[in-house]
This record gives sequence, structure tokens and C-alpha cells, in this order.
Amino acid sequence: MPTAYHIPAMLTETIEGLNIKPEGVYVDVTFGGGGHSRAILEAGAGHLYSFDQDKDALQNAIDDERWTFVHSNFRYLRNWMDYYGVDGIDGLLADLGVSFHHFDCPERGFSFRFSAPLDMRMNQTAKRTAADIVNSYSEEELAQIFWLYGELKNGRGIAKNICRARAQKPIERTEDLVEASRIPAEMSKELARLFQALRIEVNDEMGALREMLVAARDLLKPGGRIAILTYHSLEDRLVKNFLRSGNLEGNIEKDFYGNNLSPFEILEKGRTACAEEVERNPRSRSAKLRIAEKR
Ligand SMILES: C[S@@+](CC[C@H](N)C(=O)[O-])C[C@H]1O[C@@H](n2cnc3c(N)ncnc32)[C@H](O)[C@@H]1O
Repeated sequence: MPTAYHIPAMLTETIEGLNIKPEGVYVDVTFGGGGHSRAILEAGAGHLYSFDQDKDALQNAIDDERWTFVHSNFRYLRNWMDYYGVDGIDGLLADLGVSFHHFDCPERGFSFRFSAPLDMRMNQTAKRTAADIVNSYSEEELAQIFWLYGELKNGRGIAKNICRARAQKPIERTEDLVEASRIPAEMSKELARLFQALRIEVNDEMGALREMLVAARDLLKPGGRIAILTYHSLEDRLVKNFLRSGNLEGNIEKDFYGNNLSPFEILEKGRTACAEEVERNPRSRSAKLRIAEKR
């Protein structure tokens, strides 16, 4: 049986939260398998621009004249909206990270479950692979990535093991990295965190998210909604602080009376999938949904 390209998390909650208006202009910055995009169109959106930096996502293209696919990193959201002559949007959805397709496609190198070149690029034309990073970053830089993006308590030790191993021979494949890290095969959670940390660095996921959030804030019309699904604590903290304050520094400005001057009103503060959904789709377990409305 073919595996699903992706199963969207918290689909109903996300679409209801976006409060789709007929004739409204919407953006799904993470098209993937298109589950959320299809639902946005079914809910009556006037036009939907769907971004994905991975050309594989185009196999899920939607045949609808209200739909435009943008094969690009979402960090260029503002440029693309200018290109299409859109100066305001009614809603934006970001379902961050990778799709099931990435994990389940052995040759993409996202998973330690398969033997493959250590790649992990979402955009197959990007220059830098995960192998480039593990073979060229200093021990200190690797330790920081493992700690920050993988929350690996032993990030320093793992970085040291990797640097020792690569001095013998370059780390080129997923199994080379597993061996070099010296994380025992049965510690699959640690291995998943190691791979996650590298993936975030390869794709500069935090940098792209920051740029997209600022563009989204400026493009949303008053009353427009932003819905974001995050999958790890670092990105969730960034989104939470951004929505609370309206800026990347998370500085909350208040008026004379102590009212928060953030351009957003928070509607959903980190909702998680219900038990039934997690049972049906275990990968929805780590998803957190945040929704805000532009004032
Ligand atoms: C979790 S999946 C989205 C799944 C989608 N909501 C669905 O219903 O199938 C994330 C998708 O966003 C894409 N993506 C991640 N970061 C991106 C970025 N910075 N720019 C463009 N696409 C990105 C990935 O290639 C992946 O296909």
C-alpha cells in the first residue's frame, strides 16, 4: 500500500480558527501534501497561494483556478505577494517542519531508519547538505546545534565523538552519523533529536520562520488571522513571543493603562491534538496550534 504523503494535524481546528471568508485571500506557506490547502479552498477562500520549497509537493497539485502554487522558501513571502500584486491577506497558515514524505523517503536522508546519503535538504537545489555540516562545522558549532535544536543534554559529547570519527573518514551516510555519534541504536529518541537538530540547521528553519513571521504581520489585514502549527519548543517559543508582542525580540509594549499594544489578539494559545487524533495519527503528538487575529 502506498504511504500517505502527509496527514495534516488538527485540520478542523486550524480551518475553523482561520475563519475563512468568501473572496478572502489566503496563504498556506507549507503546502506539503495539500491537506490544509484543500480544506481552505473547500471552506470557500477566494484565492489561495500555497508555498513549498520542495518540488515533490507539486505531485499534490490542486486543480482549482483559485489556487496558485509558489515553489519557494516562505522566507520570500513578501516578495512573492508583491510579485502577484497582493498587498493584504485575510489569513495565513504555517504547518512547520517536514512532511511524512520526507521521513518516509529513504533517499532524502531525513531518517536514521534508512541507509542513505546524509542529505536532509527540503529544497533539493540548495547547496548545503547535512553531510557538509557534520564534516565542516567546528566541534563547538556542532555542540551548539545539538543543544539548541535537538535539546540533547549530551550535545557536547556527541559533537566530540563526531569530530573524532570524521578525522578517520568523512561522514557521508545516515549510518555513518549514527555510528560516529555513538548513540546506541536503541536510544531512538536521542537519534531522532540528533537528526532533527541537523535538519533545522541544514534548512535554516529558524531564520526562515523569523522572516516569514515579520512579512505575515505586515501583510495581514485587520481582522485577518494567522494559524501556526509548531513541532518543537524552540520554534514554538519564537511563535508564542512573536504573537504576544508583534516583534522578534518579544518586547511587549504597553500603553499608559497597561494594555498590551501587540498588533495581534491571541485566540489559541498552543492547543494540542486530542487523544483520538494522536491515536489515529501518532505524528500529531508534538503539534501545537497557535492562532491570532490582527487588530
Ligand atoms: C508539515 S508539512 C505541511 C503539511 C501540510 N499542511 C499538509 O496538509 O499536507 C511542511 C511542508 O512545508 C515545507 N516547508 C518547510 N519549510 C519551508 C520553507 N521555509 N519554505 C517553504 N516550504 C517549507 C516542507 O517542504 C513540507 O512539505
